Amino acid sequence: MIKKCLFPAAGYGTRFLPATKATPKEMLPILTKPLIQYGVEEASDAGIRTMAIVTGRGKRAIEDHFDRSYELEHQIQGSSKEALMTEIRSVITTCTFSYTRQMEMKGLGHAILTGETLIGNEPFAVILADDLCDNTGKETVLKQMINIYEKYQCSIVAIEEIPMDQTNKYGVIAGNLLDNTNNTYRVTDMVEKPDPKEAPTNMAIIGRYILTPDIFDIIRNTKPGKGGEIQITDALLEQAKEGNVIAYKFDGKRFDCGSIDGFVEATNYFYSKGSN
Ligand code: UTP
Repeated sequence: MIKKCLFPAAGYGTRFLPATKATPKEMLPILTKPLIQYGVEEASDAGIRTMAIVTGRGKRAIEDHFDRSYELEHQIQGSSKEALMTEIRSVITTCTFSYTRQMEMKGLGHAILTGETLIGNEPFAVILADDLCDNTGKETVLKQMINIYEKYQCSIVAIEEIPMDQTNKYGVIAGNLLDNTNNTYRVTDMVEKPDPKEAPTNMAIIGRYILTPDIFDIIRNTKPGKGGEIQITDALLEQAKEGNVIAYKFDGKRFDCGSIDGFVEATNYFYSKGSN
């Protein structure tokens, strides 16, 4: 049973400067909803009620967003605007939120390790809110991954086939297709942001993970890798060497909202879908 979801949200979001100078990247909206709320709703739809958020300096707006706002709520009470608050009210009342701060931005692996204090010794989900997933009417991506976890009881990474010339933006896996499936692989190798010439495949890890708690000790012993950062890919490779990582090619659409192109694409997609 996966009960907690970790949201590493301490990154600087430099690609969105100056917007992210005083506003967390995770609070940038696709239409009217901040990126991190999409992530929280995805976790909530997968049955998770405990949200654990790794923040950093300048990220207080995230905490305020997942809290009551009495003056505002009083102001719009009984008006047509009240309906705009339905979804955020629903997550606030059904989920609990806890926070810890990453004091130095030493990479995604380090951010996940910082979250250990909120997670403890149990398997957990990870959502990178800047990867926005739409389930196109089926189960959410995280729910699909939880179904896979229940079968294999090991770490699960979501993957997507990307154009070969983009491997240097992602963690890339190699693996063996599991029997009777066309979408799950036992991972045999993982490389962080490889040059296209060195990439083992074009199967890229996107921002959804289920991790078993032994990952924390592995990260503690992981040296800085690509870009001088502590990479979750390097830690996962240690689990993969024991046969304990499954890659799952999810069903749904994913937008890289950490990039301007992906952000605009997501905005147009959700606008056309009529989600505003
Ligand atoms: P990114 O590298 O995409 O985010 O990290 P960034 O560093 O904020 O973006 P740019 O490149 O400067 O525009 C992926 C995810 O990992 C989190 C980020 O918040 C993002 O959700 N992260 C990354 C941390 O929480 N801490 C870190 O030290 C690094």
